[in-house]
Amino acid sequence: MRDLIVLREKILSLKEKKNAIILSHNYQRDEVQDIADFTGDSLELSRTAASIKCDIIVFCGVNFMAESASILSPQKTVLLPEIEACCPMADMVTVSGARNMQTHFPGYKFTGKYTYPVNFTLRDIKKLHPDAPVVTYVNTTAEVKAESDICCTSANGVKIVESLDADKVICVPDRNLATWIAKNTKKEVIAWDGFCHVHDRVTTADVANARQEHPDALFIAHPECRIEVLEIADHVTSTSGMLRFAKSSDAKEFIIGTEIGLLYRLRKENPGKTFYPLRKDMVCPNMKRTTLKSVLRALETMTHEIRVPEEIRIPAMKALDRMLKIKI
Ligand code: 13P
Ligand code: SF4
Repeated sequence: MRDLIVLREKILSLKEKKNAIILSHNYQRDEVQDIADFTGDSLELSRTAASIKCDIIVFCGVNFMAESASILSPQKTVLLPEIEACCPMADMVTVSGARNMQTHFPGYKFTGKYTYPVNFTLRDIKKLHPDAPVVTYVNTTAEVKAESDICCTSANGVKIVESLDADKVICVPDRNLATWIAKNTKKEVIAWDGFCHVHDRVTTADVANARQEHPDALFIAHPECRIEVLEIADHVTSTSGMLRFAKSSDAKEFIIGTEIGLLYRLRKENPGKTFYPLRKDMVCPNMKRTTLKSVLRALETMTHEIRVPEEIRIPAMKALDRMLKIKI
């Protein structure tokens, strides 16, 4: 405990001295969320990174988030405390070259089937549907964003697709988010076949079990869950959307269908309400890599600086900017 207090004090003083801001995703460890200046979902974090005044952003999240911050704010130094903190789903689509499918989680038994071969790329799917704009989930590399028309997050996917002047769109890389968008729009959605291993493991049997245990609870799901799970949810939304829903709902109990890190804020911000994880193993190991020690090290040693080459940054920024202009 004493160690934690000392760490916190060192971080806060160094942060002030260096004019740094700490951004944290909603899935980060409790103590990392507590030290952050701002905690939010991917959309809120992108907006904050683009507008906040500071010299340094310490991004407590995974690499694509820090990359987006650097794309939107190239004049700031963006630090990712743990360089290995990645999103396996982001590596499931590439611009060229084979994608990285199972290497991130060798123990996980994935029961679904991939639609495309390992060396099928974003350029290949664009060739198959030349008239369809590419809507790219922010959980992607900067290279993939640079080859896309517009980005989206779990908070605005349907709105973004609806905003486009096209009857058919390509959605990469999350097939579950794409299927959810397809269900909520009249447009044709060509889905890629990526997935989040934390959300994709959830089944309707898990939901039935949780509902039996907590019959008065509402079930809220993240759109990265499979469609059959989303179809039986009381509400489907992003992580910060879940916070807003829980706050405004009259219900007192909720089953949470997303990474368990979100429970910390849900409980802190709603003391009179009770939150149950849908499954206790909904843990994203990459989101948990960042610790207070790594945040301090990042500030002390200015590591790991994330920068995107200009030839990729400029087109990637266009896709992100186009998304940010759409109000939700
Ligand atoms: P949100 O944008 O809803 O916070 O989700 C990000 C993410 O990585 C979900 O797994
Ligand atoms: Fe990627 Fe899933 Fe982790 Fe989010 S929870 S960062 S989508 S692996």
